Amino acid sequence: MSRLGPRADLAELAGYHSPQVDVEVRLNTNESPYPPPAAFRDAWLGALADLPLHRYPDRSARDLREALAHHLGHGPERIVCANGSNEVLLALLLTFGGPGRSMLCFVPTYTLHAHLARITGTQVRCVDRDAAWGVDPGAAAAAVRDLRPELVFLCSPNNPTGRAEPPEVVAAVADALAAHGPGLVIVDEAYGEFAPTSALGLVDDERPLVVTRTFSKVWSLAALRLGVGIGPAWVAAEVEKVLLPYHLSAATQAAGRLALGFEAEMRARVGLIVSERERVAAALAAVPGVRVHPSGANFLLFRPPGDAHRTWRRLVDAGVLVRDCSSWPGVEGHLRVTVGTAAENDRFLAALAEAVREDGRP
Ligand SMILES: Cc1ncc(COP(=O)(O)O)c(C=O)c1O
Repeated sequence: MSRLGPRADLAELAGYHSPQVDVEVRLNTNESPYPPPAAFRDAWLGALADLPLHRYPDRSARDLREALAHHLGHGPERIVCANGSNEVLLALLLTFGGPGRSMLCFVPTYTLHAHLARITGTQVRCVDRDAAWGVDPGAAAAAVRDLRPELVFLCSPNNPTGRAEPPEVVAAVADALAAHGPGLVIVDEAYGEFAPTSALGLVDDERPLVVTRTFSKVWSLAALRLGVGIGPAWVAAEVEKVLLPYHLSAATQAAGRLALGFEAEMRARVGLIVSERERVAAALAAVPGVRVHPSGANFLLFRPPGDAHRTWRRLVDAGVLVRDCSSWPGVEGHLRVTVGTAAENDRFLAALAEAVREDGRP
């Protein structure tokens, strides 16, 4: 039998992988180190018991979008929900990208943006970030002028480097794009709650800008897959036409709606994680030869002395899994660690200090 191959433009595509290793301390995928509050679990399980499972879920996720509108300060007509923010990004690309259109991203950044663009047949154009891994508004304006993309992706805080873009930079990129005709800026704020600034306040019906958020990090619901897009009402209306009917399960809709009732707990957790982040950053900086980069997210990018891959291996042998970015273009020689509980962070710091000591031995 001769097998049908994938579309010609997908033939070279590599899948997106995040290697999992069975270890005690998993600090590699930027999840919350805490499960959701027990009271949330009880409320959600109670809601599940009452769900009419033989019926399709509410196609428009009205209750969830109204709860989100209240939480985010934008009307439900500006809100799109999907299975994780990755699916929101995919839906935006399916709606506004595609063959004959292009997206611009600033590298190094979250590689899934380019991957999703390729899947949708959208041409990918990449521009380097500045020396501090920021997006320079002048360079961004020049790239937009020269490359004329329909879509510009920003990631703030940026994965894997950690830096958040100030709203002035995001607004300048949106202005530059609008100056050359219709386009859309997509700001991936998967880690937005951990950062001092957000582009959410820039969203209105006139500015072509969408912000995406997720329940996978702060809200401790990575397993349930819930993401949100907040943008002009016309963007939300177009994306709704592309999303599959009933794509968001009733269980997920209920989880998101109920989770928003625990905002105070979640805000306290953000405070805890941010203070642990700063503690870990200071401790990393004190390890001889380690360089750690400032972060507005729930992870830190750092460069150990010597061979980063070997350090990663030593950490795994000590029961601590971090993300090995040592061969990623633009962040060569680096590792990325998710901020965990204080005990997990201590395990990581002790294992790293030992790995660096071993590396220094003849
Ligand atoms: C920058 C960025 N965007 C989006 C996501 C995916 O989030 P979700 O679980 O909502 O699909 C991640 C996950 O790690 C991420 O790092």
